[in-house]
Amino acid sequence: MRILVTGGAGFIGSNFIHFILKNVDGVEVVNFDKLTYAGNLENLAEIEKNPRYHFVKGDITSKENVESAITRFNVEGIINFAAESHVDRSILGPLVFSETNIIGTQVLLEAARKFSIKRYLQISTDEVYGSLGATGLFHETTPLAPNSPYSASKASADMLVRAYVHTFDLPAVLTRCSNNYGPYQFPEKLIPLMIINALSGKQLPVYGDGLNVRDWIHVEDHNRGVWDVFVKGRQGEHYNLGGMAEKTNIEIVKFILNHLGKDESQIKYVKDRPGHDRRYAMDVSFIGHELGWKPQIKFEEGLSSTIDWYLSHQSWWERILSGDYQSYFSENYKDRV
Ligand code: NAD
Ligand code: TYD
Repeated sequence: MRILVTGGAGFIGSNFIHFILKNVDGVEVVNFDKLTYAGNLENLAEIEKNPRYHFVKGDITSKENVESAITRFNVEGIINFAAESHVDRSILGPLVFSETNIIGTQVLLEAARKFSIKRYLQISTDEVYGSLGATGLFHETTPLAPNSPYSASKASADMLVRAYVHTFDLPAVLTRCSNNYGPYQFPEKLIPLMIINALSGKQLPVYGDGLNVRDWIHVEDHNRGVWDVFVKGRQGEHYNLGGMAEKTNIEIVKFILNHLGKDESQIKYVKDRPGHDRRYAMDVSFIGHELGWKPQIKFEEGLSSTIDWYLSHQSWWERILSGDYQSYFSENYKDRV
């Protein structure tokens, strides 16, 4: 089977491609990515010659780009990771979030209908449920109440997936996951930003009082769940995934500094993010009962190994900070520019 993995040059998508090539026989991956600032083909340099891997530079909002990749590779399944994914950027410039996350999803859904794709999986987020108070969890039945332009665009895409299942009997499923961490995460998100700033002797900017809570999951646990849902999930169903590891932001920042043997003087409390959601936490019992999935990587171990990964992959993140990573495509894929 050949699957189209959109956004495969990003953080979770590139980890997913590594996961499939390592753990799943008989599946070929077509990585379809626009290579925005968040797309980095260096994440896949180790496997780019693998005959089960193909790369297409393309935009999910382009019907022509999407249809040509599907027909050229005889694609039978689609997993849509492609998105604008950073909340702070959605506050500074919201429009591209609606274009990519909503229109892009609809273009993919239309193509899935047209080419009778056997399985479509939409990657969504816990952020569509809004913000929790001090107690309680997000369940699959929790009403959608997105608060940022990012989460509103993801919730809109979720609604389109639902409508295409209901109206056109599209064989689609959907996952909503909590905050991921792990290798290859772009250093604008909390964990890689804090690790790199700590290593570079810069300040660590903590928004507000630092007591906002996220439910952290290692990207490998997430991707194992994505594959379980792709293979075994019920058509039209949506599944919550989470790490069962609620942490305040300041706990994470202090853990990183402590692991690196740095003192806390680098911490700087800064102005809060507008509309900052206070707490996310997932109930993952439904996917546990239905598909037997649960997170396996303990947070402290996963975060320690992630910090060590950034320590041993300094040139990977230095090339991002300098912008050099963006020339990898033109230098290595000359025939496809
Ligand atoms: P990312 O920003 O690291 O990567 C996004 C990728 O999509 C990049 O490679 C980018 O080039 C590509 N892309 C952007 N616009 C595109 C377009 N128009 N056409 C084709 N490709 C395009 O994101 P991520 O953190 O890997 O997240 C992947 C998915 O998982 C997103 O849908 C996100 O909403 C969801 N998600 C992320 C998290 C998290 O903690 N990072 C948690 C839950 C869900
Ligand atoms: P982020 O990694 O952007 O993910 P999300 O907003 O999707 O949850 O942020 C995680 C948390 O860390 C969030 O509460 C905002 C906070 N944060 C900071 O305190 N400082 C920072 O520099 C960043 C990027 C995030």
